[in-house]
Amino acid sequence: MSAISLPRLPAIASSAIAMEVLNGLTECPKTLSPWLFYDQAGSRLFEAITELPEYYVTRTERQILAKHAAEIVAAAAGGRDLSIIELGAGTATKTGLLLDAAVAHQGTVIYYPIDVSETALEEARTRLESEMPEVTVEPIVADYTEGMRQNNAAGIDRAGRRLVLYIGSSIGNFSPADALEVLRGVRAQLSPGDSLLLGTDMVKDTEMLLAAYDDAAGVTAKFNKNVLVRINRELDANFNPYLFRHQARWNEQHSRIEMHLESVLAQKVAVRPLDLELRFSRGETIHTENSYKFTDERVLGLLTRAGFKLRQQWSDDQQWFTVYLAVAN
Ligand code: TRP
Repeated sequence: MSAISLPRLPAIASSAIAMEVLNGLTECPKTLSPWLFYDQAGSRLFEAITELPEYYVTRTERQILAKHAAEIVAAAAGGRDLSIIELGAGTATKTGLLLDAAVAHQGTVIYYPIDVSETALEEARTRLESEMPEVTVEPIVADYTEGMRQNNAAGIDRAGRRLVLYIGSSIGNFSPADALEVLRGVRAQLSPGDSLLLGTDMVKDTEMLLAAYDDAAGVTAKFNKNVLVRINRELDANFNPYLFRHQARWNEQHSRIEMHLESVLAQKVAVRPLDLELRFSRGETIHTENSYKFTDERVLGLLTRAGFKLRQQWSDDQQWFTVYLAVAN
């Protein structure tokens, strides 16, 4: 053990990432939490995923928003002023379409992007404020629940209506039970008449789904394996990323794409600061993420049980993706 790493040991061993490794990689089947993807390299890889030819999701949703933004804003505003909140805004690349429509609707708009990444929010603020002077950006660095609470507690927009954007099918990265909890949490911070714009990726041809999560250029594979690189760096582990294979699977029963990292041979991996030796059998996997695929019935069930009423929905011609506008009861 090197002398320089010694003083860091207690901090490492009790860190959130250490807890993930201790809990997730010592159970069977092995799992890791998706938040581990999004370090700096991972966030950049994710941006690259959204531009891949196989990854129709972002492009399709953007087309839907481009076509219907004015209608969405008018329906959500109901003749009043609208402020726009976005959950997991990131760098907010799709939001411009709706902000544009809001500016056309009412002249100016306040936009509250909520994200755990401060750097992504600053990038969004800088870009939007230079491109769209009519938009005031009020970033909220927090998770969804805390961010919604802060926005609600501020109480600035009482005279107007709020529209919460939850797009990109991010809801699909939660289990059905957790997805319902998230939507209930959002609803709890809204007033009747405020709305939610929810974007979900729909069930479709399995080959097409698999390709979207296992692209030819290997960007998604790199994104998935980046969790091992991160664990090596932050926990001084010795994963060899070349001895793991990226795998996308369709789980029909749960209607979800699963991402796994498959050990190509029997191997041991050491995480020395945690005094941990992990054993992998050949073909054993680490389950790193789920991406649920939806039907109208599923989404409507979720919205209803969370306290929303569907107002209107929009899809692309092939019905690959759907955007739902729902009003808080
Ligand atoms: N929520 C989107 C989806 O599930 C984006 C996403 C999250 C994603 N994690 C991912 C895309 C991992 C590819 C790989 O499609």
